[in-house]
Amino acid sequence: MTIKTAKELKELYLSFFESKDHKRIPSSSLVPENDPTVLFTTAGMHPLVPFLLGEPHSQGKRLCDVQKCVRTGDIDEVGDKVHHTFFEMLGNWSLGDYFKEDAIKISFEFLTQQLNFPIEKLAVTCFEGDDDSEKDTEAYEVWKSLGFPENKITFLPKKDNWWGPAGETGPCGPDTEMFYWTGKDPVPETFDPDNKDWVEIWNDVFMQYTKTKDGRYEPAEQLNVDTGLGVERVTAILQGLDDNYKTELFQPTIKKIEELSNKSYDDPNYTVSMRIIADHMRSAVFIMGDERKISPSNVDQGYIVRRFIRRSIRHCLSLGIPEPAKFTNEVARLIIEQYKDEYEELNKNKSFILDELSKESEKFGRTIETGLKEFNKMGSDNKISAKEAFLLFQSYGFPIEMTEELANEKGIEVDVKGFNEEFKKHQELSRKGAEKKFKGGLADDSEISKKLHTATHLLAEALRRVLSKDIKQRGSNITPERLRFDFNFDRKLTDEEKQEVEDLVNKKIMEALPVERKEMSVEEANKLGAQSEFQDKYGDKVSVYMIGDFSAELCGGPHVNNTSEIGHFKIKKEQSSSGGVRRIKAVIE
Ligand code: ALA
Repeated sequence: MTIKTAKELKELYLSFFESKDHKRIPSSSLVPENDPTVLFTTAGMHPLVPFLLGEPHSQGKRLCDVQKCVRTGDIDEVGDKVHHTFFEMLGNWSLGDYFKEDAIKISFEFLTQQLNFPIEKLAVTCFEGDDDSEKDTEAYEVWKSLGFPENKITFLPKKDNWWGPAGETGPCGPDTEMFYWTGKDPVPETFDPDNKDWVEIWNDVFMQYTKTKDGRYEPAEQLNVDTGLGVERVTAILQGLDDNYKTELFQPTIKKIEELSNKSYDDPNYTVSMRIIADHMRSAVFIMGDERKISPSNVDQGYIVRRFIRRSIRHCLSLGIPEPAKFTNEVARLIIEQYKDEYEELNKNKSFILDELSKESEKFGRTIETGLKEFNKMGSDNKISAKEAFLLFQSYGFPIEMTEELANEKGIEVDVKGFNEEFKKHQELSRKGAEKKFKGGLADDSEISKKLHTATHLLAEALRRVLSKDIKQRGSNITPERLRFDFNFDRKLTDEEKQEVEDLVNKKIMEALPVERKEMSVEEANKLGAQSEFQDKYGDKVSVYMIGDFSAELCGGPHVNNTSEIGHFKIKKEQSSSGGVRRIKAVIE
């Protein structure tokens, strides 16, 4: 069978790996569960970090999947033929099972016998070695034995042939990358990494190292294979296209944009705007419709969605599309329809996506044109000042990145640093406002989240007393169902330790300790030994929550008044989160 569509490619890949004893696992959320250091899942290996670090996976040692990914690092490249912020990655993993030789041979078999790519059109690269890790002659020899001529196997340095970790720490190692010749000219004799007609299609990473917090590469306890094959670009290649946006993955959106703007994608005046809209709207739909539903906002993932939507609207206007809110709604419906069978969450969250999108689009739709007029009056001295950029943000909702983009187009500069300072000042004021509101008893935080919040402080202190006084918080998240707490510790807790921690927390609950908020200077808090990871976030006066004389922690609250209000505390799960970081999930019963 000749494979043509993205759906066929995905199915072929997954069933091929199933035939090699891999278990097919579902795509994980776009918001990493295991890594507080990054906003999005950027690769198929990301949700698998605990298993790459040695925790057994319920499906065994050989896995494969298609993972939804977002990489915001490429946002400025979007507009060309091949870059996307959201994309799908096919991958296969060996968790301490097969290694280099088998991984390469299996990849080769898939490319040449399943996709029927002629070996003459392929080239590969291997790691050239440095102080951290030796030259990968083993990978080289395997490729050679498969029939690659020497001038199609190139050694490159770490910046090209090393992958990971996904966040700041964790599994990583040298890789070997596979390229396909997409040029119209005959295939050159020798591979040239700078020739854009050689398109990277697949990456096999040999995870031999774990990067530590202090930047060292330690030999990994378990040797893993992690691979990634880009669905969009391989689909384009299979269809003989040199533009990913011409595949069926983007065509419904592009056609809709053409129809509503009455302009042609092939008109070079409009191609870039259409690609940006098609890319950003797909990302926005997937992020809002993720299992962990994200609303547009001014922080974290919510801010990225906001930027995607607002930038799409800006490009809508430049294409002369008159009603952006109607437009984004129609495009989002198309995208949901297109992907809903493979990603059920889009269907489940459809009304959430459409509601959030219309709120955001209507809000920005109301201010963007006036904002653009204001912007056009600015910059007479070839500079957009911090105050001007902040006005555009505050009054017209222009993300700073959009102001920069508009300014770049006019060849003028923006005082981004000054803007960030304005922004911080403003945040500080609203934080103080929120605290005042809480003191006045107006805070609307639910009772259960207060209980879980106080329980989190007890847990942190109990971990310090039972395991090590050096334990620090690495992340924390509370939902009405549970608390989640990440902390630095380099091994699994024993059952006895878990019990001891749980018992200590419950003991402190039974003791009915008062929970008191005290305002003090940073020095006083330090003297008291108050725990804080985030001191620089606070102003001169800090708020410290004291739980009897058991715990003191810098925190904005809110908390219960007395530990007796909490109820019975229970640890549900203890697992690895990323290199050197453990995660506890606990509930109140
Ligand atoms: N994790 C590897 C990549 O993203 C496979 O390229």
